[in-house]
Amino acid sequence: MDYNILKMRSIELTKNIFYVGVDDRCTDLFENHLPLPAGVSYNSYLIVDEKVVLIDPVDISCIGEFLDRLTAVLGDRAIDILVVNHAEPDHSGSVAVLTQKYPDIQVVGNVKTFAPLEAFYGPIAHKVVVADGETMPIGAHTLQFFTAPMVHWPESMATYELSTGILFSNDAFGGFGVLNGGIFDDQHDLAWYEDEMRRYYANIVGKVAAPTLKVIQRLSTLDIKMIAPSHGLVWRQRLDWVLDKYTQWSQHAGEEGVVIAYGSMHGNTARMAGIVAQGVADAGIRAVRVYDVARTDASFILSDIWRYRGVALGSNAHYGSMFPELATLTHELIQFKPQGKQYAIFGGMSWSGGGVSTLRKLADEAHWPLVSDSVEVKGAPGRPDDSDRLYQLGLTLGNAIKNQ
Ligand code: FEO
Repeated sequence: MDYNILKMRSIELTKNIFYVGVDDRCTDLFENHLPLPAGVSYNSYLIVDEKVVLIDPVDISCIGEFLDRLTAVLGDRAIDILVVNHAEPDHSGSVAVLTQKYPDIQVVGNVKTFAPLEAFYGPIAHKVVVADGETMPIGAHTLQFFTAPMVHWPESMATYELSTGILFSNDAFGGFGVLNGGIFDDQHDLAWYEDEMRRYYANIVGKVAAPTLKVIQRLSTLDIKMIAPSHGLVWRQRLDWVLDKYTQWSQHAGEEGVVIAYGSMHGNTARMAGIVAQGVADAGIRAVRVYDVARTDASFILSDIWRYRGVALGSNAHYGSMFPELATLTHELIQFKPQGKQYAIFGGMSWSGGGVSTLRKLADEAHWPLVSDSVEVKGAPGRPDDSDRLYQLGLTLGNAIKNQ
């Protein structure tokens, strides 16, 4: 097979351990549904020792640059071992290219790795199944494998290199956003990066918060000097920061703040959201995030819901049910189950209602704690009584968050 080999600069994590990942600026939708306004990186790592070991390859769409990066480090030297921490195609997508290019390559996974991997890419010739905690010397370096089931699929695992203290954590501690040149945490503005990292967490890992917390607690017994995930920044200076963030999110430790998400066909429910927000603000809540669900993708709203403790959902009536994009958001809420929230529900009834009652039914079924009765308004929220009820709903929600 011919590849267009370009000369690329290599990037070292430590002596003989290289970053060989790629920035993907072309894919619009991660997993074909999560917007990527700032792209995503597929991180891959190469350890050059008596054995050459590649830890997690990249999405097949980036195969050209990936092979160039490998060549920049290795020249004609072959890769001996490929560690597959996770079989999902954003990492494993280039496995078949690698097994073709390096026919003797040994592919390392755990007992759950090869069923999905071979289902995706066909038979693997040289499989090595490692046990949880097993070590593998490769020269001056030694790898140790830790299974991390459900972070975020059953076969997920992390690989720890004992001599350097680098944890190759795969999806855990990852984030959206390309790396833009600097791969390390100390080369970036973390205030910006935190939002894309939390959106990744909320929409990818949050569903499995409990097993994630267990894995964090278990791995924290290791002497970790660097965390090298398979998306986003490599953590070498702000390890405590990223561990704290992941622990907070996995413990559902929300900050003081309220997310108001509404669907509105003719602007009336949008006006209601504004009045609810006024009540929340007057309760002294400074972080008030108001989203039109038709204009902001649910992944961004879910990320803020994960961050804050208060949630107000507003819908007009749409064919006897709720606004369509609000159904997408509530579906994600039910799937991902962020905990420790206080909810409020409001909306318009148009001709015959259905938006508010559908939200109420969902709240009952999902056991969302409501701070008070829902508020449903006929038409525009122009009557003083309507405005008062909406304002009071916001005030009650704000006070509930303030006193939590
Ligand atoms: Fe980044 Fe679960 O794949």
